[in-house]
Amino acid sequence: MNALAATNRNFKLASRLLGLDSKLEQCLLIPFREIKVECTIPKDDGSLATFIGFRVQHDNARGPMKGGIRYHPEVDPDEVNALAQLMTWKTAVANIPYGGAKGGIGCSPSDLSISELERLTRVFTQKIHDLIGIHTDVPAPDMGTNPQTMAWILDEYSKFHGYSPAVVTGKPIDLGGSLGRDAATGRGVLFAAEALLRDHGKSIAGQRFVVQGFGNVGSWAAQLITEQGGKIVAVSDITGAIKNKNGIDIASLLKHVKENRGVKGFHGADSIDPNSILVEDCDVLIPAALGGVINRDNAKDIKAKFIVEAANHPTDPEADEILAKKGVVILPDIYANSGGVTVSYFEWVQNIQGFMWDEERVNTELKAYMNRGFKDVKDMCKTHNCDLRMGAFTLGVNRVARATTLRGWEA
Ligand SMILES: NC(=O)c1ccc[n+]([C@@H]2O[C@H](COP(=O)([O-])OP(=O)(O)OC[C@H]3O[C@@H](n4cnc5c(N)ncnc54)[C@H](O)[C@@H]3O)[C@@H](O)[C@H]2O)c1
Repeated sequence: MNALAATNRNFKLASRLLGLDSKLEQCLLIPFREIKVECTIPKDDGSLATFIGFRVQHDNARGPMKGGIRYHPEVDPDEVNALAQLMTWKTAVANIPYGGAKGGIGCSPSDLSISELERLTRVFTQKIHDLIGIHTDVPAPDMGTNPQTMAWILDEYSKFHGYSPAVVTGKPIDLGGSLGRDAATGRGVLFAAEALLRDHGKSIAGQRFVVQGFGNVGSWAAQLITEQGGKIVAVSDITGAIKNKNGIDIASLLKHVKENRGVKGFHGADSIDPNSILVEDCDVLIPAALGGVINRDNAKDIKAKFIVEAANHPTDPEADEILAKKGVVILPDIYANSGGVTVSYFEWVQNIQGFMWDEERVNTELKAYMNRGFKDVKDMCKTHNCDLRMGAFTLGVNRVARATTLRGWEA
């Protein structure tokens, strides 16, 4: 099932549990606006190259729309649509005053020079500058983009609208980025896993974790889990997969990854088949790479008791059903990886206030939001007698439905 079909299905299940009227359901499901723009740039050799840029603005009932911009050769409009919708429910679950959006440019960033990337980002910003804004739509980095990309968007946008640091989040610290933003999604995954395990009478210490993906989210989650006494027994990334049942030394692995651009060849663990990472023996599985990786082909072989979804939509609905029958507890993406957008919200607040928080304050506030989010999700599970995914979906959809109804439709 593709990402959009899966997201729509979960939305409809939640809508049914909430007893939403079909007209309101339509209104919540259909994106507010879909933008598609042509971006032509001169390449360094003087030739022209044309790319297509997208921005799907899904919903703004609860506040400005918020979501990442990815640069990837296969930016698929359906997936961008699904991810924009997931952002709407995620910001509502986190209870931050935002709606949802997502965007991207179909390009291969590794095939473009820095100056070509800068020109492409500036042209894309020129095409959408009047449709984004501090109180309209606030982009952030995603796959293939980074703080430098946000700096270029900020600069280009500011030419039209005056200096506007709050127009993007995930900026370099020197341009108003927030302390703690880099680690925020991984730290949020730690707090989410802590809350889940606590609910089952357990703690991070002594649990065995497997992490798929060792990029920003996976590596921070692994590092912070290790600091709390958790044991990371297997890790994978695009270069390969490694395993050590006594626990991988994450500090040494980080050093290895920095020097070798991947986990492959790390001496402190055995190399394993990357296809087996999700079915390795462990207590907690953390998919932190791609969408759709847990599906009907591998769900029956998963040995973890808990899955904490750090990636967006890593679990297919068919796998959800198989795993539920096996008694595997899944902490869904729209709650588990909301730490990133929550600290993005703190960044936006700091920019608007013109005031910088210290890192301790950022992390303390993040923990409070993640703990409150878990309690709110659990309350919805009790009310609707449902699993955590539907608890999170009913929580998010209900908040957006209430805001939409309160604002009304008077033309
Ligand atoms: N960065 C954030 O703040 C944030 C917030 C919410 C959700 N997410 C989601 O978390 C996931 C990871 O994001 P990130 O920011 O860490 O990205 P990233 O690009 O920093 O890291 C991705 C990691 O996945 C690995 N990978 C790619 N293909 C793989 C494969 N086939 N098998 C195993 N590993 C593979 C890469 O090698 C890399 O280690 C994505 O789904 C993203 O949408 C990220």
